[in-house]
Order: sequence, then structure tokens, then C-alpha cells
Amino acid sequence: MSKNVRVAVNGYGVIGKRVADAVRLQPDMEVVGVADVVSDYRVRLAVERGYPVYCAAREKWPEMEAAGIPVAGTLDHLLAAADIVVDCAPKKLGAANKARYEDAGVKAIFQGGEKHELAGYSFVAQVNYEGAIGRHFARVVSCNTTALSRVAHALHRHGWIERVRAVLFRRGTDPWESHLNGMINTVLPETKVPSHQGPDAQTVIPDLGITTMAGAGPYNLSHIHFTMIETTRPVSLDELRDALWDAPRIAFVRAGDGIVALNSVSELMRDLDRPRGDMWEVAVWEDALAADEREVYLSYQVHNEAIVIPETVDCIRALTGIEKNASKSIARTDAALGVTKSFLPATTKPIGHVTGADVSHPGLEAVRARHAEFRSLGFTGAEEPADPEPTPAQRGGR
Ligand SMILES: NC(=O)c1ccc[n+]([C@@H]2O[C@H](COP(=O)([O-])OP(=O)(O)OC[C@H]3O[C@@H](n4cnc5c(N)ncnc54)[C@H](O)[C@@H]3O)[C@@H](O)[C@H]2O)c1
Repeated sequence: MSKNVRVAVNGYGVIGKRVADAVRLQPDMEVVGVADVVSDYRVRLAVERGYPVYCAAREKWPEMEAAGIPVAGTLDHLLAAADIVVDCAPKKLGAANKARYEDAGVKAIFQGGEKHELAGYSFVAQVNYEGAIGRHFARVVSCNTTALSRVAHALHRHGWIERVRAVLFRRGTDPWESHLNGMINTVLPETKVPSHQGPDAQTVIPDLGITTMAGAGPYNLSHIHFTMIETTRPVSLDELRDALWDAPRIAFVRAGDGIVALNSVSELMRDLDRPRGDMWEVAVWEDALAADEREVYLSYQVHNEAIVIPETVDCIRALTGIEKNASKSIARTDAALGVTKSFLPATTKPIGHVTGADVSHPGLEAVRARHAEFRSLGFTGAEEPADPEPTPAQRGGR
């Protein structure tokens, strides 16, 4: 085994290409190659980036070569050169691939399109890293489940959660395939309640009470979740904000800063020169947080193409055992990628840390004042009565 963990990526699509680039940035791992079955611009880009490209289906080899791709070998050759493979092939291919990985004697990480049972362990770094150490297989859960798990865990670890109810509006399709899929001018509700993400979150946090409903809309930027959490005791807005601030890979955005919608967050990521405009964090609207005596309320954006990438990097460390400490792995991954707690640190007032429920956050009044300027952008609709001011209790003040 070389000094670095040797990582193979099988499937160089939305997730696979990001996994390869993220692994390449880590000081303790290297990409030994990527495998795919297509030979268009997507895989040719892997050649441009200097990744050895392998053919995942032997019959596709001539096509790949005809497209000018220097094929380094078959998937089996790639597996022979790897310590671990990250399966990023389209969902449901995992079961067939698993047998090949077992034959090759490599550890494997599957993605959220596969069922929990395939890997036997569903992974979100900040929740259950330690349990994955040394395992042969794990599944990095889907984008939605990762976001639900991060947010719920931030509160659950304090013993605050009685029950989570979340409504998930999913993107209609991914940008690269928007010419092929996606609805227009409509929203499709899922007819299964609970939608699968709730039970899926329980594969990560088994004792979490959660129900989810989902739908999809005609946009391709991200998902958005509206989440109501019934609490075991009254949780103040300050406590809620603090718990989220303390959790890795959750960052605040504010309507009061002009970040009023999915597109504003996406624009911010592009302006920050993030690769592909990726957002690895869950972006929680700080000025849309609310709390009352029974529940807390959150709205947050989930960049489905990117959120599972840091999780996958951590999962590589856990399965191979090169790092036994979750916090250290998370910190190392986040430093290499540029994951942050604050998207605009130079101009964002730090929020005072709260240890007791009765301490007010100093930045809050300024945020509320700026937020008020943006209220006119809210979509109340002409048929609704004028928007009443929320009561102090609805704002979470007690
Ligand atoms: N797209 C997302 O937002 C998202 C988010 C989280 C998790 N996931 C999960 O990640 C996995 C991959 O999804 P994706 O969106 O990257 O898919 P994708 O379609 O963008 O990429 C899949 C890649 O695998 C290649 N491929 C097809 N057949 C193959 C085979 N037999 N062997 C190897 N490669 C093959 C395809 O050519 C393509 O390049 C799925 O489990 C999915 O559910 C996707």
C-alpha cells in the first residue's frame, strides 16, 4: 500500500467527477483512476484533468478509444490498483457492482441511490463516523438525507427533538441533463407519505422521530427544505441558532443580506469562485429561523450535486481507518475543500456564543432591520390578507 490511500471512482458523472476532484485535494489520498462507459465530453474532461480513464464495460472500449480517450484498462484493472472504490454509477447498479468489488477485495462506498441494505451502514460524517471505521462497505446517504441528518443531529445531540416534520422541494433535474428531463410550469407532489427521505434519515439516526413529504419543481439549482421540529422543551431562537452554528457543514445565509432565494445562494457560490459553483454546506436562512414554545422552524437550501462530496471524503478515511477521529477528518476535508461556517466572513458580524437560553445574540437586531427591507419580496400572493407582523412569541422571544 502506498503512503496515500488509493481511490478509484466508478462512474464519472455529477457525483463521480466531484468526488475525484475532492479526493485529489486531500493530502492523504490519491485518485488512481476513474471508470465510465460513455465517451462524450463528460469523460473526455477526465482526460483533460489528468485522470487515468478505465472502461467499466468492455464492449464500450472501442467507442472510447475512437473518441480519443486513452483507455488505461478495464474496471477490474482499476480495482486491482485501488484500496477503495467510490461507486458513483447510476442508482441501482450498485448491487451488481458490489460483487465485482468483493471479488477484487477492495472496500467500497456507495451513494444514496442505493439502498441501506446493500452496504449495511449509512454514513453522515458528523453523526456516525466512528461506526464506519474499518468496515468493508458503507453508503453515503443521499443529498436530502445528508441535509436532514446534519440539521436534525445539531439539535438531537442536545436531546431537543420530539419529532421532525419536513417538506422537501426537490430540483426537477440536474443542470447537465436539463435538456432531457424536468418538468415545466408545475410542481409534482410525491404521492407516498412519508417520502423515503424520512425513513432514510433513520438509517443514520435510528431513534429520530421524523416524517417527510416531498415534491419536485421546475428548477435545477438545488433543493429546499421547510422543516418543523417539535421540541422536548421550549428551545429559544438563540439556542437554535447556536446549535446550528456549532455543527459542522451548516452555514447561515440571510435574506437581510439580499440572499433571498435559491438563485441568490447559487450566485453567491459562483461569485466565491467555488468549483462548479458548489455548496457543500447546508445553507440555513438565519432570518427565517423561528421558535415558539413547542417547535422550531427552519428553511434551508441543499445543493444536491455537492453536499455529499465532503461526506464521501470522510467515509474514505473511516473505511480505510487512516483517521479514527471524526472531527479531525471533517476538519481536514473542510480545509482542503474550503468548507466554511461563514460565506461572507469579512463583512459578517460574528455571533456571540450563547451558553444560556436567556442571552441575546448581539447581531440579531441588525439582521432583523435589514430583513425588513426585503419583506416586500415575499410571495404572499394577491389573494392573501396583508402580512401581519409576527408576535414576539412567534419570533421565539420569551
Ligand atoms: N445527482 C445528484 O444530485 C445526487 C446527489 C446525491 C447522490 N446521488 C447519487 O449518486 C449516484 C450517482 O448519481 P449521479 O447523479 O452522479 O449520476 P450521473 O448520471 O450524473 O452519473 C453516473 C455516471 O455513471 C456512468 N455509468 C453508467 N453506467 C455505468 C456502469 N455500468 N459503470 C460505471 N459507470 C457507469 C454514466 O455514464 C455517468 O457518467 C446515484 O446513486 C445517485 O442517487 C446523486
